Amino acid sequence: MEIRNKVVWITGASSGIGEALTYKLNELGAKLIISSRNRESLYLVKSKCKVNPLDVHVLPLDLENTDSLKEVTASAIKIFNKVDIIIHSGGVSQRSLALETDLDVAQRIMNINFWGTVALTQNILPSMLSNNSGHIVIISSLVGKFGTKFRSAYSASKHALHGYFDSLRTEINPEIKISIICPGFIKTNVTINALTADGTKQNSMDDAQANGMPADRCAIEIIKAIRSGKEEVYIGGKEKYAVLLKRFLPGIFSKIVRTAKVT
Ligand SMILES: NC(=O)c1ccc[n+]([C@@H]2O[C@H](COP(=O)([O-])OP(=O)(O)OC[C@H]3O[C@@H](n4cnc5c(N)ncnc54)[C@H](OP(=O)(O)O)[C@@H]3O)[C@@H](O)[C@H]2O)c1
Repeated sequence: MEIRNKVVWITGASSGIGEALTYKLNELGAKLIISSRNRESLYLVKSKCKVNPLDVHVLPLDLENTDSLKEVTASAIKIFNKVDIIIHSGGVSQRSLALETDLDVAQRIMNINFWGTVALTQNILPSMLSNNSGHIVIISSLVGKFGTKFRSAYSASKHALHGYFDSLRTEINPEIKISIICPGFIKTNVTINALTADGTKQNSMDDAQANGMPADRCAIEIIKAIRSGKEEVYIGGKEKYAVLLKRFLPGIFSKIVRTAKVT
């Protein structure tokens, strides 16, 4: 699939994977709408787009405020009269034990990662259906395929995305593609921004992330998956193989994941 001149709407574009996707897609000649909460960071990202910055539009949004997303979607469509590809990269992680985590915090993670993504999709899908084309790209996680310590609500929010979008795929015109991307450890601010038991940020980077795949390499892999219309892909280092281990040797996987030293 040709990326040049495609209209791509990216959430989570102010940082990490979404930011790296913004630069790569700009280099490839896409027309971009970049979203997240922080307007200033989005303008900073726009200022670093070297190819035709006039084709990069900043559209702030808060995924937690699902009621506002209808109006935001209408504004997104107005910018270039259509959206060809939406990349849902906005999200927040968790670092806290399930039992210690305030229910409000767990619900917040679900609202941002799951309901925010669903709401945006419900709002953008009718225009894709009427254009008879479109691509919905969801940045899930390897923990959308299995659970590990300190990530109960986060892992649940990512598993929920798989259930929702695998179901949606069966209901809609196959011209609308749905790709679910499952990154492993990618070097971004995700663990710095992760919520702890009381909802405050962790404010430190986990070693696994610090040693993870660079975000620009992850962006290249994601674009490859979009171009080939893959339904589900795993991106990262050897942690990817945990998906296979869980599928084929679930008993062994369960023992390993219970005793593994996870941060
Ligand atoms: N890095 C990894 O190892 C890894 C692994 C698996 C999956 N992922 C997933 O990849 C996606 C991107 O994460 P990242 O690694 O790039 O982390 P990041 O650097 O922390 O970026 C997260 C992005 O989400 C945006 N965001 C957070 N809360 C939001 C809200 N309420 N409304 C709108 N936007 C919001 C942030 O922008 P604002 O603060 O400006 O709103 C930021 O642009 C997430 O869905 C994450 O779960 C990451």
